[in-house]
Amino acid sequence: MSPVVPTNDAQTFRVLELVLGTADARPSVRKRQVTNFLDYQQCCAAGYELGCVEQDGRIVGACYGLVLPGRTALLLVPPMSSPGFSPEATRSAVERCLERLGRHRLHFIQALSDTADVEQDNLLTGVGFRPLTRLQYLARSARYPWVEPPATLQCTWQPYSAAQQSVFEKTLRECYAGSLDCPELTDLRPLSDALESHQATGPFDPALWQLLRVDDEIVGCLLLSRLLHMEMLEIVYVGVAASHRGRRFGSVLLYRALELCREVGRESLTLVVDVRNKPALRLYEAFNFASVGERTAYLSVPTDS
Ligand SMILES: CC(C)(COP(=O)(O)OP(=O)(O)OC[C@H]1O[C@@H](n2cnc3c(N)ncnc32)[C@H](O)[C@@H]1OP(=O)(O)O)[C@@H](O)C(=O)NCCC(=O)NCCS
Repeated sequence: MSPVVPTNDAQTFRVLELVLGTADARPSVRKRQVTNFLDYQQCCAAGYELGCVEQDGRIVGACYGLVLPGRTALLLVPPMSSPGFSPEATRSAVERCLERLGRHRLHFIQALSDTADVEQDNLLTGVGFRPLTRLQYLARSARYPWVEPPATLQCTWQPYSAAQQSVFEKTLRECYAGSLDCPELTDLRPLSDALESHQATGPFDPALWQLLRVDDEIVGCLLLSRLLHMEMLEIVYVGVAASHRGRRFGSVLLYRALELCREVGRESLTLVVDVRNKPALRLYEAFNFASVGERTAYLSVPTDS
Protein backbone atom coordinates (compact mmCIF):
# COMPACT_ATOMS: atom_id res chain seq x y z
CA MET A 1 0.00 0.00 0.00
CA SER A 2 1.41 3.41 -0.89
CA PRO A 3 0.13 6.89 -0.14
CA VAL A 4 -1.21 8.54 -3.23
CA VAL A 5 -1.31 12.28 -3.62
CA PRO A 6 -4.68 13.05 -5.17
CA THR A 7 -4.39 14.85 -8.45
CA ASN A 8 -7.88 14.96 -9.87
CA ASP A 9 -11.21 16.49 -9.00
CA ALA A 10 -13.01 13.15 -8.97
CA GLN A 11 -10.76 12.00 -6.16
CA THR A 12 -11.22 15.26 -4.23
CA PHE A 13 -14.96 14.80 -4.61
CA ARG A 14 -14.79 11.22 -3.30
CA VAL A 15 -12.61 12.23 -0.34
CA LEU A 16 -15.14 14.93 0.52
CA GLU A 17 -18.00 12.43 0.38
CA LEU A 18 -16.08 10.31 2.87
CA VAL A 19 -15.04 13.03 5.30
CA LEU A 20 -18.45 14.68 5.25
CA GLY A 21 -19.87 11.34 6.38
CA THR A 22 -22.26 11.06 3.46
CA ALA A 23 -20.72 8.01 1.78
CA ASP A 24 -23.82 5.88 2.51
CA ALA A 25 -26.37 8.45 1.37
CA ARG A 26 -28.15 8.48 -2.01
CA PRO A 27 -25.92 9.77 -4.84
CA SER A 28 -28.02 12.93 -5.29
CA VAL A 29 -27.73 13.73 -1.57
CA ARG A 30 -23.98 13.06 -1.59
CA LYS A 31 -23.50 15.27 -4.61
CA ARG A 32 -25.48 18.12 -3.07
CA GLN A 33 -23.58 17.95 0.22
CA VAL A 34 -20.24 18.05 -1.51
CA THR A 35 -21.16 20.82 -3.95
CA ASN A 36 -22.58 22.88 -1.08
CA PHE A 37 -19.33 22.39 0.81
CA LEU A 38 -17.28 23.41 -2.24
CA ASP A 39 -19.49 26.50 -2.70
CA TYR A 40 -18.76 27.45 0.89
CA GLN A 41 -15.05 26.86 0.38
CA GLN A 42 -15.03 29.08 -2.67
CA CYS A 43 -17.20 31.76 -1.06
CA CYS A 44 -14.82 32.18 1.88
CA ALA A 45 -11.70 31.84 -0.26
CA ALA A 46 -10.48 28.84 1.72
CA GLY A 47 -7.80 26.52 0.43
CA TYR A 48 -7.35 22.85 1.10
CA GLU A 49 -4.89 20.00 1.40
CA LEU A 50 -5.72 16.34 0.97
CA GLY A 51 -4.39 13.14 2.41
CA CYS A 52 -5.45 9.97 0.67
CA VAL A 53 -4.34 6.34 0.68
CA GLU A 54 -5.50 3.98 -2.05
CA GLN A 55 -5.33 0.22 -2.37
CA ASP A 56 -6.27 -1.59 -5.57
CA GLY A 57 -7.93 1.59 -6.87
CA ARG A 58 -10.05 2.02 -3.73
CA ILE A 59 -9.67 4.74 -1.11
CA VAL A 60 -8.84 3.08 2.22
CA GLY A 61 -7.79 6.17 4.16
CA ALA A 62 -8.65 9.84 3.63
CA CYS A 63 -8.44 13.23 5.22
CA TYR A 64 -9.24 16.81 4.15
CA GLY A 65 -7.59 19.93 5.56
CA LEU A 66 -9.61 23.12 5.02
CA VAL A 67 -7.22 26.09 5.11
CA LEU A 68 -9.20 29.08 6.35
CA PRO A 69 -8.55 32.80 6.05
CA GLY A 70 -6.88 34.10 9.22
CA ARG A 71 -4.30 31.29 9.10
CA THR A 72 -6.13 28.43 10.78
CA ALA A 73 -7.26 25.09 9.42
CA LEU A 74 -9.97 22.54 10.09
CA LEU A 75 -9.04 18.90 9.68
CA LEU A 76 -11.90 16.70 8.46
CA VAL A 77 -11.46 13.01 9.19
CA PRO A 78 -14.01 10.40 8.06
CA PRO A 79 -15.97 8.34 10.59
CA MET A 80 -13.70 5.46 11.59
CA SER A 81 -16.51 3.06 10.79
CA SER A 82 -16.26 3.94 7.06
CA PRO A 83 -16.42 0.63 5.15
CA GLY A 84 -13.09 -0.59 3.79
CA PHE A 85 -11.03 1.83 5.88
CA SER A 86 -8.12 0.70 8.00
CA PRO A 87 -6.84 2.68 11.00
CA GLU A 88 -3.28 2.52 9.58
CA ALA A 89 -4.29 3.90 6.18
CA THR A 90 -6.37 6.64 7.79
CA ARG A 91 -3.49 7.62 10.04
CA SER A 92 -1.17 7.69 7.07
CA ALA A 93 -3.64 9.94 5.19
CA VAL A 94 -3.92 12.28 8.19
CA GLU A 95 -0.13 12.48 8.54
CA ARG A 96 0.21 13.29 4.86
CA CYS A 97 -2.41 16.00 5.14
CA LEU A 98 -0.80 17.52 8.26
CA GLU A 99 2.57 17.55 6.55
CA ARG A 100 1.08 19.57 3.70
CA LEU A 101 -0.79 21.88 6.11
CA GLY A 102 2.58 22.54 7.76
CA ARG A 103 3.55 24.67 4.75
CA HIS A 104 0.81 27.21 5.47
CA ARG A 105 2.34 28.68 8.65
CA LEU A 106 -0.90 28.24 10.56
CA HIS A 107 -1.65 29.58 14.04
CA PHE A 108 -3.50 26.35 14.86
CA ILE A 109 -5.40 23.43 13.40
CA GLN A 110 -8.70 22.24 14.81
CA ALA A 111 -10.50 18.96 14.31
CA LEU A 112 -14.01 17.93 15.30
CA SER A 113 -15.16 14.46 16.14
CA ASP A 114 -18.32 12.67 17.16
CA THR A 115 -18.28 12.61 20.92
CA ALA A 116 -18.70 8.82 20.93
CA ASP A 117 -16.01 7.94 18.34
CA VAL A 118 -13.22 6.51 20.51
CA GLU A 119 -11.19 5.42 17.48
CA GLN A 120 -11.26 8.90 16.03
CA ASP A 121 -10.12 10.21 19.41
CA ASN A 122 -7.20 7.74 19.38
CA LEU A 123 -6.31 8.73 15.85
CA LEU A 124 -6.29 12.46 16.55
CA THR A 125 -4.37 12.24 19.82
CA GLY A 126 -1.95 9.82 18.10
CA VAL A 127 -1.01 12.48 15.54
CA GLY A 128 -0.51 15.28 18.07
CA PHE A 129 -3.96 16.78 18.68
CA ARG A 130 -5.23 17.35 22.20
CA PRO A 131 -8.90 17.38 23.18
CA LEU A 132 -9.91 21.00 23.77
CA THR A 133 -13.54 20.87 24.81
CA ARG A 134 -17.00 19.69 23.85
CA LEU A 135 -18.94 22.02 21.60
CA GLN A 136 -22.70 22.24 21.74
CA TYR A 137 -24.64 23.25 18.61
CA LEU A 138 -27.77 25.23 19.44
CA ALA A 139 -30.60 26.63 17.35
CA ARG A 140 -33.96 28.33 17.69
CA SER A 141 -36.62 29.76 15.40
CA ALA A 142 -36.38 33.47 14.64
CA ARG A 143 -39.98 33.88 15.91
CA TYR A 144 -41.14 31.14 18.23
CA PRO A 145 -41.24 31.21 21.15
CA TRP A 146 -41.63 34.96 20.87
CA VAL A 147 -39.20 37.05 22.94
CA GLU A 148 -40.22 40.46 24.21
CA PRO A 149 -37.68 43.25 23.73
CA PRO A 150 -35.44 43.82 26.75
CA ALA A 151 -36.17 46.83 28.97
CA THR A 152 -35.60 49.99 26.95
CA LEU A 153 -32.05 51.19 26.94
CA GLN A 154 -30.40 54.19 25.39
CA CYS A 155 -28.49 52.01 22.98
CA THR A 156 -27.26 52.42 19.42
CA TRP A 157 -25.89 49.94 16.93
CA GLN A 158 -22.78 50.57 14.95
CA PRO A 159 -22.27 48.34 11.90
CA TYR A 160 -18.90 47.22 10.59
CA SER A 161 -16.89 49.08 7.97
CA ALA A 162 -13.21 48.82 7.12
CA ALA A 163 -12.68 52.17 8.87
CA GLN A 164 -14.05 50.55 12.07
CA GLN A 165 -11.66 47.59 11.97
CA SER A 166 -9.55 48.79 14.91
CA VAL A 167 -12.67 49.51 17.02
CA PHE A 168 -13.93 45.99 16.34
CA GLU A 169 -10.52 44.56 17.26
CA LYS A 170 -10.47 46.54 20.51
CA THR A 171 -14.00 45.40 21.39
CA LEU A 172 -13.15 41.79 20.60
CA ARG A 173 -10.12 42.03 22.91
CA GLU A 174 -12.35 43.29 25.74
CA CYS A 175 -14.90 40.52 25.09
CA TYR A 176 -12.19 37.84 25.05
CA ALA A 177 -10.98 38.95 28.52
CA GLY A 178 -12.01 36.33 31.08
CA SER A 179 -14.11 34.52 28.46
CA LEU A 180 -14.91 30.85 29.00
CA ASP A 181 -15.39 30.27 25.29
CA CYS A 182 -12.34 28.26 24.11
CA PRO A 183 -9.97 30.59 26.02
CA GLU A 184 -7.05 28.39 24.88
CA LEU A 185 -7.33 29.95 21.41
CA THR A 186 -7.27 33.59 22.51
CA ASP A 187 -3.52 34.17 22.53
CA LEU A 188 -2.74 31.93 19.58
CA ARG A 189 -3.49 34.52 16.89
CA PRO A 190 -3.69 38.28 16.43
CA LEU A 191 -7.15 39.84 16.62
CA SER A 192 -6.98 40.85 12.95
CA ASP A 193 -6.70 37.15 12.03
CA ALA A 194 -9.51 36.23 14.46
CA LEU A 195 -11.77 38.75 12.70
CA GLU A 196 -10.69 37.44 9.29
CA SER A 197 -11.65 33.90 10.38
CA HIS A 198 -15.01 35.14 11.64
CA GLN A 199 -15.64 36.88 8.30
CA ALA A 200 -15.04 33.61 6.48
CA THR A 201 -17.98 31.81 8.10
CA GLY A 202 -20.18 32.66 5.11
CA PRO A 203 -20.75 35.44 2.59
CA PHE A 204 -19.66 38.46 4.64
CA ASP A 205 -22.29 41.17 5.18
CA PRO A 206 -20.91 44.14 7.18
CA ALA A 207 -24.45 45.17 8.15
CA LEU A 208 -24.70 41.97 10.23
CA TRP A 209 -21.67 42.83 12.34
CA GLN A 210 -22.64 45.35 14.98
CA LEU A 211 -21.23 47.01 18.06
CA LEU A 212 -23.57 47.78 20.95
CA ARG A 213 -23.09 51.29 22.29
CA VAL A 214 -24.72 52.29 25.60
CA ASP A 215 -24.28 55.75 27.14
CA ASP A 216 -21.66 56.46 24.50
CA GLU A 217 -19.58 53.46 25.49
CA ILE A 218 -19.15 50.30 23.43
CA VAL A 219 -20.23 47.44 25.67
CA GLY A 220 -20.31 44.45 23.31
CA CYS A 221 -20.48 43.06 19.81
CA LEU A 222 -22.59 40.78 17.67
CA LEU A 223 -21.15 39.06 14.61
CA LEU A 224 -23.73 37.30 12.44
CA SER A 225 -23.30 35.40 9.21
CA ARG A 226 -25.67 34.13 6.55
CA LEU A 227 -24.99 30.44 6.08
CA LEU A 228 -24.85 29.33 2.46
CA HIS A 229 -27.64 27.04 1.25
CA MET A 230 -29.42 27.24 4.61
CA GLU A 231 -32.34 29.17 5.98
CA MET A 232 -30.27 30.10 8.99
CA LEU A 233 -28.26 32.95 10.36
CA GLU A 234 -25.32 31.99 12.53
CA ILE A 235 -24.15 33.88 15.59
CA VAL A 236 -20.47 33.64 14.79
CA TYR A 237 -19.58 35.58 17.91
CA VAL A 238 -21.42 37.45 20.64
CA GLY A 239 -19.62 39.07 23.52
CA VAL A 240 -19.94 41.63 26.28
CA ALA A 241 -16.81 43.51 27.42
CA ALA A 242 -15.58 42.08 30.74
CA SER A 243 -16.31 45.26 32.69
CA HIS A 244 -19.95 45.29 31.51
CA ARG A 245 -20.95 41.66 32.14
CA GLY A 246 -23.82 40.65 34.40
CA ARG A 247 -25.99 43.65 33.38
CA ARG A 248 -28.12 41.81 30.82
CA PHE A 249 -26.37 43.29 27.78
CA GLY A 250 -26.08 39.68 26.57
CA SER A 251 -29.89 39.63 26.28
CA VAL A 252 -29.85 42.92 24.35
CA LEU A 253 -27.38 41.41 21.87
CA LEU A 254 -29.38 38.18 21.48
CA TYR A 255 -32.63 40.07 21.00
CA ARG A 256 -30.88 42.09 18.27
CA ALA A 257 -29.73 38.83 16.66
CA LEU A 258 -33.36 37.62 16.51
CA GLU A 259 -34.48 40.95 15.07
CA LEU A 260 -31.81 40.90 12.36
CA CYS A 261 -32.63 37.28 11.58
CA ARG A 262 -36.24 38.23 10.87
CA GLU A 263 -35.20 41.37 8.96
CA VAL A 264 -33.05 39.40 6.51
CA GLY A 265 -35.77 36.76 6.15
CA ARG A 266 -33.98 33.80 7.72
CA GLU A 267 -36.02 31.20 9.57
CA SER A 268 -33.71 30.42 12.43
CA LEU A 269 -30.66 31.33 14.41
CA THR A 270 -27.85 28.92 15.19
CA LEU A 271 -24.62 29.03 17.18
CA VAL A 272 -21.86 26.90 18.68
CA VAL A 273 -20.86 27.17 22.34
CA ASP A 274 -18.13 25.69 24.50
CA VAL A 275 -19.93 23.56 27.13
CA ARG A 276 -17.65 25.04 29.83
CA ASN A 277 -19.12 28.49 29.14
CA LYS A 278 -21.88 28.45 31.77
CA PRO A 279 -22.82 32.17 31.63
CA ALA A 280 -23.35 31.89 27.86
CA LEU A 281 -25.30 28.61 28.22
CA ARG A 282 -27.60 30.23 30.80
CA LEU A 283 -28.22 33.11 28.46
CA TYR A 284 -29.00 30.80 25.50
CA GLU A 285 -31.28 28.69 27.69
CA ALA A 286 -33.19 31.80 28.71
CA PHE A 287 -33.69 32.48 24.98
CA ASN A 288 -35.00 28.93 24.43
CA PHE A 289 -32.15 27.73 22.24
CA ALA A 290 -32.25 23.93 21.91
CA SER A 291 -29.37 21.54 21.40
CA VAL A 292 -29.09 20.17 17.86
CA GLY A 293 -25.78 18.34 18.22
CA GLU A 294 -22.51 17.97 20.01
CA ARG A 295 -18.90 17.47 18.91
CA THR A 296 -15.53 17.19 20.59
CA ALA A 297 -13.06 19.85 19.46
CA TYR A 298 -9.35 19.02 19.18
CA LEU A 299 -6.44 21.41 18.85
CA SER A 300 -2.97 21.18 17.39
CA VAL A 301 -0.55 24.10 17.47
CA PRO A 302 2.24 23.72 14.91
CA THR A 303 5.62 24.25 16.60
CA ASP A 304 6.85 26.72 13.95
CA SER A 305 3.62 28.84 13.93
C1 LIG B 1 -21.95 35.17 27.76
C2 LIG B 1 -22.11 36.67 27.87
C3 LIG B 1 -22.35 37.25 26.47
C4 LIG B 1 -23.30 36.99 28.76
O1 LIG B 1 -23.50 38.41 28.74
P1 LIG B 1 -24.03 39.22 30.05
O2 LIG B 1 -24.41 40.57 29.64
O3 LIG B 1 -23.03 39.10 31.11
O4 LIG B 1 -25.32 38.38 30.27
P2 LIG B 1 -26.33 38.47 31.45
O5 LIG B 1 -26.08 39.68 32.31
O6 LIG B 1 -27.67 38.32 30.83
O7 LIG B 1 -25.93 37.15 32.25
C5 LIG B 1 -26.07 35.86 31.69
C6 LIG B 1 -25.82 34.84 32.77
O8 LIG B 1 -24.41 34.81 33.08
C7 LIG B 1 -24.21 35.09 34.47
N1 LIG B 1 -23.02 35.93 34.56
C8 LIG B 1 -22.92 37.17 34.07
N2 LIG B 1 -21.68 37.64 34.32
C9 LIG B 1 -21.01 36.68 34.92
C10 LIG B 1 -19.70 36.55 35.41
N3 LIG B 1 -18.79 37.55 35.32
N4 LIG B 1 -19.34 35.38 35.96
C11 LIG B 1 -20.23 34.37 36.04
N5 LIG B 1 -21.48 34.44 35.62
C12 LIG B 1 -21.88 35.57 35.05
C13 LIG B 1 -25.43 35.81 34.94
O9 LIG B 1 -25.65 35.55 36.31
C14 LIG B 1 -26.54 35.22 34.07
O10 LIG B 1 -27.05 34.01 34.58
P3 LIG B 1 -28.52 34.04 35.29
O11 LIG B 1 -29.47 34.48 34.21
O12 LIG B 1 -28.68 32.63 35.71
O13 LIG B 1 -28.42 35.05 36.37
C15 LIG B 1 -20.87 37.33 28.53
O14 LIG B 1 -20.59 36.66 29.73
C16 LIG B 1 -19.64 37.32 27.65
O15 LIG B 1 -19.47 38.16 26.79
N6 LIG B 1 -18.71 36.38 27.87
C17 LIG B 1 -17.47 36.33 27.09
C18 LIG B 1 -17.69 36.04 25.62
C19 LIG B 1 -18.51 34.79 25.45
O16 LIG B 1 -18.36 33.82 26.16
N7 LIG B 1 -19.35 34.81 24.42
C20 LIG B 1 -20.21 33.70 24.07
C21 LIG B 1 -19.65 33.02 22.87
S1 LIG B 1 -20.58 31.55 22.51
